[in-house]
Amino acid sequence: MFSHRIYNIYKLHLTGFVILFFSFCSFKNVESFVPEARYAHSATLVDKKLYFVGGQVSEINQGQELFHLYGELFYLDVSTSFDIESPSWTDLTASKHVPVRNSWAASSVGFGSKPANNLDKSTIYLIGGLMYITNQNAIVTDIVYAFDTKSQQWELPVTNGTGPNRRREVQAVSDNIGKIYYFGGKSDYTTTGSPAENVIRYNTMNILDTVQLSWSIGSMIDAPSPREGYSATLFINLIIFIGGRENSNDGQSFHLVNISQIPVYDIQSSKWYLTIAGGANVSHRYYHSAILAPNDLIIVYGGTSERDLPASQQLIALNITSLPYQWIAPTTSYLSLDAIPPPLSLHSSTLVEKYMIIAFGNITNATRSASLNLYLLDTTNWTWVTTFESSNSIHPVISIGVIGTIIGIALSIIIIIVFTVLYVRARKKSNQNHPPTKNSPPSSSRNSISNQFSIPQEIISGTYDDARTSYVRPRPKSNPLLRSYSTLANT
Ligand SMILES: *[C@@H]1O[C@H](CO)[C@@H](O)[C@H](O)[C@H]1NC(C)=O
Ligand SMILES: *[C@@H]1O[C@H](CO)[C@@H](O)[C@H](O)[C@H]1NC(C)=O
Ligand SMILES: *[C@@H]1O[C@H](CO)[C@@H](O)[C@H](O)[C@H]1NC(C)=O
Ligand SMILES: *[C@@H]1O[C@H](CO)[C@@H](O)[C@H](O)[C@H]1NC(C)=O
Ligand SMILES: *[C@@H]1O[C@H](CO)[C@@H](O)[C@H](O)[C@H]1NC(C)=O
Ligand SMILES: *[C@@H]1O[C@H](CO)[C@@H](O)[C@H](O)[C@H]1NC(C)=O
Ligand SMILES: *[C@@H]1O[C@H](CO)[C@@H](O)[C@H](O)[C@H]1NC(C)=O
Repeated sequence: MFSHRIYNIYKLHLTGFVILFFSFCSFKNVESFVPEARYAHSATLVDKKLYFVGGQVSEINQGQELFHLYGELFYLDVSTSFDIESPSWTDLTASKHVPVRNSWAASSVGFGSKPANNLDKSTIYLIGGLMYITNQNAIVTDIVYAFDTKSQQWELPVTNGTGPNRRREVQAVSDNIGKIYYFGGKSDYTTTGSPAENVIRYNTMNILDTVQLSWSIGSMIDAPSPREGYSATLFINLIIFIGGRENSNDGQSFHLVNISQIPVYDIQSSKWYLTIAGGANVSHRYYHSAILAPNDLIIVYGGTSERDLPASQQLIALNITSLPYQWIAPTTSYLSLDAIPPPLSLHSSTLVEKYMIIAFGNITNATRSASLNLYLLDTTNWTWVTTFESSNSIHPVISIGVIGTIIGIALSIIIIIVFTVLYVRARKKSNQNHPPTKNSPPSSSRNSISNQFSIPQEIISGTYDDARTSYVRPRPKSNPLLRSYSTLANT
């Protein structure tokens, strides 16, 4: 009798702990997904959600640069206001089963491949870059992956026509009729997995029609020199290409593209033009980002200049309202020191309402690490701000963190009350075997894992083989995802 009673009380304790544990887990889900620092990720805005895929970080270990690729998918909700200190991230990695770890991929939004959303510009296409099968060190052969934001499924689109080989450092843009323009880029040992591979730069305008799922190539007449690491911005029917790197004719591994010489591709006539920009004297750069601001300015942030140094004016703008285009070096102000971004490269920039949202990237001053922060430029008055004020927000700003805390506290109080009541009752009615068990653990907000996506089977055999000691030196025991990156700096 006595031991039976102890057992009942023990069971109650256990139930209480299980409930506390689950509520703690769901509390954590609500409050605390914070993405890690990264650069060379992809950012795509669809329907008030800014989706991020992949990216990488690198570390120096015994003089060797090693890198780690992310296989993550998460988004920032831009339908409501947020503060850069506590943005409302949602992680989809677990439930949406990202098929490849990837970095340096170009991303753009196109039409869905399913008849139901064939005219919905709601599918994110991830093109090229480094793509590894999750949990393996094999480069996939497929160039294009797609995430349908409506069905929330990854797809492996079957394309026809002649597409690009695997390249990186491309910025893709999409028009309103479902075409994605993917210009130039480069291939090297990281894209081929072949250590002896030389850097090859391209100048083809590869076009993916996401309605037909077919690749074609735009006009080569007057095409600019082969290049990568530029920015591409669509302005009505013109794609404006700024900066980047091209082949050197003086024995160097690359040459900076002259930022005043701006190639323009007309998507209506399929013609290339070269424009010469006047205005301010701004420095050449690559690995910068660009957005089209509401007042018809292309705003450029960041980038690397000569000798691996940050471009001298990080924020510059190109006035494209009339020819010749004019460079501007605007004077900015800021609301707080934390609002000012460090010098960056390989970050992303996205225009949402009047804000340029800068995310992640490689910090290019002597700090030399990846960034995990967001920065906001109010493009109407050149001010670095800390709060994204959504014009949609009807409710006062309550961050998810605050909601999470409230839910967490409320749950804990309920649990304590329930537990106390049960405990008291159990002590009173210790003869009764079964205390009430109406309380079930709060359910997790995550959806079940989808198995719809089948992992591609074809791989390039022998890629990134440890035996290829010409570029892979022995690496630290514990991290199987880190790979040699030493020759990248020379390309
Ligand atoms: C690709 O397929 C579409 C229809 O699915 C067809 O209209 C188009 O001609 C094909 N293109 C090539 C290059 O085969
Ligand atoms: C860049 O191009 C402009 C316009 O053609 C030219 O005036 C300038 O000298 C060039 N700068 C360099 C460094 O080549
Ligand atoms: C432009 O800037 C570069 C480096 O910042 C400098 O070498 C060059 O003389 C400047 N050109 C003009 C026209 O001011
Ligand atoms: C852009 O240039 C046009 C004239 O070409 C000028 O009217 C306009 O004010 C400029 N925009 C900005 C933001 O400087
Ligand atoms: C790099 O820039 C950031 C932001 O501007 C600054 O806080 C940091 O001190 C800089 N690091 C170095 C080593 O200059
Ligand atoms: C990141 O920035 C540092 C400093 O400029 C640079 O040395 C390094 O090569 C950069 N990494 C990449 C991948 O560009
Ligand atoms: C720019 O606008 C923001 C609101 O988005 C405001 O907080 C800030 O003070 C303005 N900056 C200047 C210099 O007026």
